[in-house]
Amino acid sequence: CGIVGIVGKAAREAVLNGLSKLEYRGYDSAGIYLNDLQGNEYLTKAVGRIQNLKDKMKPTEQGTVGIGHTRWATHGKPTVDNAHPQFDETRRFYLVHNGVIENYQEIKNEYLSGVDFESATDTEVIVQLISKIAREEKTDALMALKKALQLIRGSYALLLVDNTQPDHIYIAKNKSPLMLGLGAGFNVIASDALSVLDQTQTFIDLQDQEVGDITPNDYRLETITGSRVEHREHVLTIDPNAASKGTYEFYMLKEISEQPSVLRHLDQFYLDDKGEPQIDKAILTALAQADRLYIFAAGTSYHAGLVGQALLEHLTDLPTEVGLASEAGYHFPMMSKHPFFIFLSQSGETADSRVVLQEALKRKIPCLTLTNVPNSTLAREADYTMSLEAGPEIAVASTKAYTAQVALEAILAKALGEQLGKQKARDFSLRTNLALAAEGIEEVISDQKRLEQLAQKYLIPSRNAFYIGRGIDYPLALEAALKLKEVSYIQTEGFAAAELKHGTISLIEQGTPVIALINDPVTSDLMRGNIQEVVARGASVITIASKELAKPNDDLVLPQLDYYLRPLVSVVVSQLLAYFASKDKGLDVDKPRNLAKSVTVE
Ligand code: G6P
Repeated sequence: CGIVGIVGKAAREAVLNGLSKLEYRGYDSAGIYLNDLQGNEYLTKAVGRIQNLKDKMKPTEQGTVGIGHTRWATHGKPTVDNAHPQFDETRRFYLVHNGVIENYQEIKNEYLSGVDFESATDTEVIVQLISKIAREEKTDALMALKKALQLIRGSYALLLVDNTQPDHIYIAKNKSPLMLGLGAGFNVIASDALSVLDQTQTFIDLQDQEVGDITPNDYRLETITGSRVEHREHVLTIDPNAASKGTYEFYMLKEISEQPSVLRHLDQFYLDDKGEPQIDKAILTALAQADRLYIFAAGTSYHAGLVGQALLEHLTDLPTEVGLASEAGYHFPMMSKHPFFIFLSQSGETADSRVVLQEALKRKIPCLTLTNVPNSTLAREADYTMSLEAGPEIAVASTKAYTAQVALEAILAKALGEQLGKQKARDFSLRTNLALAAEGIEEVISDQKRLEQLAQKYLIPSRNAFYIGRGIDYPLALEAALKLKEVSYIQTEGFAAAELKHGTISLIEQGTPVIALINDPVTSDLMRGNIQEVVARGASVITIASKELAKPNDDLVLPQLDYYLRPLVSVVVSQLLAYFASKDKGLDVDKPRNLAKSVTVE
């Protein structure tokens, strides 16, 4: 979900523009509340995209205070009633909310038994509760908000307008990101600074359990128990154009195409003149004390972690484990004596990962976050952080963040291996390999017409597909399959090639597309055998092989590269196949159904 609010300025355009930029975070419904401070207020909500909301609004609906929301449903289906802003039964308070209220049912039963609810959302419970407290205890909105939040358990970033004092927006944050942007004669509030960069570049990040009272020329921040807090302002120097599509039809293709420059930039950012990694000494010292590394992440970042595991073990000889954050948070894994945790997260906001981080911090385990959003929650809360430097990633399906994660893991692995005195790490030429990978990606991108033909011929007509691989191709197969299924809706499984015969091969039918990755010299002959097994059962196989392992009939030959970095190039093949399968089916590539870019609920 995404939220935007503005006070002190023509609010309609500002809020709608901000919501459009946040739409990638959730897009099943949207809504806006405007107040013109002359006694007129307007509430509009629509199912589907922001465009539907815009189409529904009359030109006369304007205001100088506004709050808006784009939703990714958690409690309650995507309907107009369930869209935000939610309001109380007296229609005095309007509220937008990101997050999940865990005890909403208890609150409903205990405090709101006589209240008529219009929606099935947990959010309505908050606004009804605030209203009830304000009415019964005769308190102002801020006090009612603080009292309500003391009863509420869960995650929230929320904006509240009280139409008896409409030149204020009251805000609160716990576990979901929220920032206040400062302007001249106006202030904005958003769940992601990117959405309001055209308004201001000066921001204050709210911390958990804080509330604020925002007016056009002033703001006041407190904890929910009423202690005054002050936070430093910071200036965000992101180029707003970096978040635009330019001449590309979809962000996904733009971001796929940016990968060579992301790798070159990482080289410039992290390596010195001699190609040696320059990493904060404190990070390396802490890492070098570990007897075991643990990587936690979700989704695509988890898949990047699986490649990182191989890289780290190879170059550092440190045993490395990878865990799904959503599992580890509540079933904490058994630890070695001196563990070190690495979090991978494009957004830095994934709630599942944050649960693990907080558990680790409680146990005093040193934590490092690799993220694309330097000021994000996971970056701020970990002991150490390193930036992926990939530039804003807008398409919901992650592409360049994955390559940046793998590359940064390689940089980290080399630095740590050298710190630990490992010859393998000294011999590993990062600069050469990153340069070769960048060139390899360029080759793949220049072959995109061919990939489009393959997608049209084999993938689009099919309801299901497989990616198979061994060695380093196995984690890649998982990511490749995720990419294809999330954007094209073709049910795809990524498989360790030899495992297929232990059961799943029963799904292979005449024409089932199987994309075989052949980058592992140790198992390439066995892999060819696995391919024959599916061919014999009718599969249509697409083979993608590294140059030195390729056979004349392979569909695509990839340039030779260090074994552990081969996913950097192969993944681009899978990204383009997914892109074309989605685009040529006429789907919305950048915003696949049911998904959100950054998932701040558990
Ligand atoms: C969401 C996105 C995925 C992403 C995952 C983890 O589900 O749709 O593309 O991989 O979250 O996100 P993170 O920001 O932590 O990498």
